[in-house]
Amino acid sequence: MARFISFEGIDGSGKSTQARLLAEALRARGEEVVLTREPGGSPGAEEIRRLVLEGDPDRWSAETEILLFTAARRDHLEKTIRPALARGATVITDRFADSTRMYQGISRGDLAEVVDRLHQLMIGVEPDLTFLIDLPADVGLSRAKTRAGLEMRFEDMGLALQEKMRAGFLALARSPRFRVIDGTGTQEQIAAAILAQL
Ligand code: ADP
Ligand code: TYD
Repeated sequence: MARFISFEGIDGSGKSTQARLLAEALRARGEEVVLTREPGGSPGAEEIRRLVLEGDPDRWSAETEILLFTAARRDHLEKTIRPALARGATVITDRFADSTRMYQGISRGDLAEVVDRLHQLMIGVEPDLTFLIDLPADVGLSRAKTRAGLEMRFEDMGLALQEKMRAGFLALARSPRFRVIDGTGTQEQIAAAILAQL
């Protein structure tokens, strides 16, 4: 049965881990699952990923950044998500439009309306189900920082921003497509809670 599932949450909340565990659990039941991520998920969008996640934090204005994330999402939708849903696969994505609503919509001034209008114009779809993995910002940040690498732009913005993101995600999660999952347990406990909600 084709369904479109996203994982959202602050950096280090455990999205990638849980998206992978859910994909494995559904594959074990015989479902075709396409596990993907944003920014990225298609060759073109992975190129845009490098542009937005590497380099100087002041490389792009807030507005340019919204355009780049939306361009990446449009390509991901055209090349990966829609074809997979059309052949009946389950699509699980590590982040989708809610991340832009949070990171670009509220982190550097109030651009929420710009994000929403562009989303309506260029994307126009939401996941059937969104798991928000909720975790205190300091725990997420310390988990995220254990991963070294070039892609540190948003984590580098610090604890205050992560707190704001957490509150923003919880506000978005009042919409019925969300399930809020407590991200403080073990990986196995969280995976079980997700399967129970599914
Ligand atoms: P995200 O994709 O949300 O940034 P990850 O799944 O990459 O999060 O997890 C961030 C880090 O925390 C990784 O090093 C991962 O192994 C670790 N981690 C994930 N889930 C848990 C958990 N439940 N308890 C402790 N550490 C975890
Ligand atoms: P991701 O690889 O999921 O990082 P993490 O595993 O730390 O959660 O995403 C990389 C960064 O991109 C993350 O800091 C959030 C940011 N991001 C946005 O700012 N806007 C977006 O629309 C998306 C999809 C991600």
